[in-house]
Amino acid sequence: MTALPHDYYLKFVDNQVLQDTTDFHAKTNYTIHECVEHFSYLHRFPDETLRLLAGNELPLYPDMNLTLNGERIPNADSDLDIVRNESCDVFKEYDLPFATLKALLSPLMVRNDDSHKRGYPSAGALYPVESFVCSLSSAEQDWPCDEKVLHILPQSRRFEIVQNTSDISALKRALLPPGSDIGSPSIAIIYMTYLPKVLFKYRFRGYRMANMEAGALYMLMDLSAKRVGIRNRVWSGYCDTMVSRSLGLSPALFHPLCVQFFGHTK
Ligand SMILES: Cc1cc2nc3c(=O)[nH]c(=O)nc-3n(C[C@H](O)[C@H](O)[C@H](O)COP(=O)(O)O)c2cc1C
Repeated sequence: MTALPHDYYLKFVDNQVLQDTTDFHAKTNYTIHECVEHFSYLHRFPDETLRLLAGNELPLYPDMNLTLNGERIPNADSDLDIVRNESCDVFKEYDLPFATLKALLSPLMVRNDDSHKRGYPSAGALYPVESFVCSLSSAEQDWPCDEKVLHILPQSRRFEIVQNTSDISALKRALLPPGSDIGSPSIAIIYMTYLPKVLFKYRFRGYRMANMEAGALYMLMDLSAKRVGIRNRVWSGYCDTMVSRSLGLSPALFHPLCVQFFGHTK
């Protein structure tokens, strides 16, 4: 396994696929962040319409009672490792020990030194999603460097220090716009994708796979958080461009697919 400069992938990408994906992706940007609030809104559905349309199951034949007679699927025991906690509503200020962070991240690493395979599935084993850990806590007695953002290297199981991130006030504003009401998470993981790596092999389907991989990552981290005794919430209420720029990454090619906050409620 060689360490390629990320620009090298551009050599192998079909420009039209890159352009079309970029255009589509731009349409998925968050529409209610303060940076766009003067010209966009999400919806104008009344509460009762939302109650009707969200959270329900979707039977194919609602009027025909075609369910299997007498069969109920049991609830899983909440003590099981594969049963997650509910998402955290409000995080309290908490200085997460760095050792806890390392334990949290351990399931993302390669399974052993002879293989490049990691602790989650990836289409074609390309692993097109990069994870960035950001320290959001103001105490930070246990954080190991001045920079507040670390890029995870799952193969060498190391942290790469993201340059120029000692001051993350812009990143915090991008992730937690005013009115976020989520309290003070200790850590954010940003699941970032670099489009040339996503698209060079599987083209448009690679884009779909990268999004699915982000889901596998946050679910694994959700269960890992339960194991190490902290809470989490997946988060999409951020401004993509502001996030990429504040990490010093090109917003044209690096896209934060999802964010996940971690911390404590007490
Ligand atoms: C992709 C994704 C994006 C989410 N974005 C947000 C968000 O921006 N703000 C928020 O408060 N919760 C967000 N959530 C958390 C959901 O609201 C939460 O998972 C859902 O209400 C179900 O509750 P539970 O996780 O406690 O079971 C997100 C969850 C997912 C999977």
